Amino acid sequence: MDRRTVGIVMNGVTGRMGYRQHLVRSILAIREQGGLTLADGTVVWPEPVLVGRNAAKLEQLAELHGLTRYTTDLAAALADDSNEIYFDAQVTTARVAALRQAIAAGKHVYTEKPTAESLADAVALADEARAAGIKHGVVADKLYLPGLLKLRRLVESGFFGRILSVRVEFGYWVFEGDWQAAQRPSWNYRSEDGGGIILDMFPHWRYVLDHVIAPVRSVYAQMATHIPQRWDEQGDAYPATADDAAYAVLELEGGIVASVNSSWTTRVDRTELVTFHVDGTEGSAVAGLRNCRVQHRATTPKPVWNPDLPVSHDFRDQWSELPENDTYDNGFKRQWEEFLAYVVADAPYGHDLYAGARGVQLAELGLQSAREGRKLLVGDL
Ligand SMILES: NC(=O)c1ccc[n+]([C@@H]2O[C@H](COP(=O)([O-])OP(=O)(O)OC[C@H]3O[C@@H](n4cnc5c(N)ncnc54)[C@H](O)[C@@H]3O)[C@@H](O)[C@H]2O)c1
Repeated sequence: MDRRTVGIVMNGVTGRMGYRQHLVRSILAIREQGGLTLADGTVVWPEPVLVGRNAAKLEQLAELHGLTRYTTDLAAALADDSNEIYFDAQVTTARVAALRQAIAAGKHVYTEKPTAESLADAVALADEARAAGIKHGVVADKLYLPGLLKLRRLVESGFFGRILSVRVEFGYWVFEGDWQAAQRPSWNYRSEDGGGIILDMFPHWRYVLDHVIAPVRSVYAQMATHIPQRWDEQGDAYPATADDAAYAVLELEGGIVASVNSSWTTRVDRTELVTFHVDGTEGSAVAGLRNCRVQHRATTPKPVWNPDLPVSHDFRDQWSELPENDTYDNGFKRQWEEFLAYVVADAPYGHDLYAGARGVQLAELGLQSAREGRKLLVGDL
């Protein structure tokens, strides 16, 4: 059995995503299962080097997880030939420069979304990666959620007949930070620091809709900064300059209409923090992070509008839960495994920096649409 060690420069591992999802739940989880076994029996062993700005924090993390390699010197980590992959989970504003540096050093790159703050930068990055002949990938974690895998299974089965519309409801209340600490980092609420819900969430909506329902063709968005003042990690008040809610209408190929609400300023009255409600001629479904409920044409009740009478239906009871029929591993880990197999054995891999650029494109057009108050076409890249 061949064992193949792959050095991975992991930048931004002191952050929420870098630490929890990418280091602990992905790379360390792959090591705990004994590595990643490829189709030909080769075992890929990821060997991370933790990179960041604060040596003490990195040392503490490395010690906690029995790792030995950490540094504040990105250039030195990239100069080490045993490191084949550069991974980026830094704040969005720091991403382009670091990815460029890694591409120039000849590393394969894998990154969080959004890949850049502008479409021009996102496309330039993808072009540079292609010209350098390196392999590149972008996180598309929502596609691996059990709820969306079930929804995709339904679409592929023809369950919906002709899909008419999709309603995406995403959001929850993010505390302002004064009397209860905010549960998201403060940079998310400052546009000058790469914040804003459109830049954060529209890249996700792009790959979810493109892959699960149909390609996105146009966008109209209304955005708001509902909460103009928040309190940061130090307890200091700051002006919130970024959008904290966006209300969008998208057209998808085939005349499908998607209405997509994204909000950090709403209180949840849903079964999950995000739901995708799909209506088709033959049936409907509501998918969340984990679950997916369906109602078929043949089991659709016939409510009659009559405000004089109390509601006679329990509408939620008229849906049935889809069976699991599968086991679902952490989505970030599954995508890491696909990327490692792509790097080591050229296995198929779908979400490259051009896919990342399509996500940034929808965010950029969403912001432009909101500023100009008009619908914009989403052209092919
Ligand atoms: N895939 C997803 O579902 C998902 C969810 C949340 C965030 N994200 C993305 O992940 C990235 C990180 O988000 P997070 O919520 O983990 O943020 P975070 O603030 O928790 O972590 C950011 C990381 O970047 C580092 N950093 C902060 N300022 C920096 C600077 N000026 N220069 C270099 N590094 C700096 C921090 O030390 C930390 O390691 C963002 O790009 C965000 O869009 C993705």
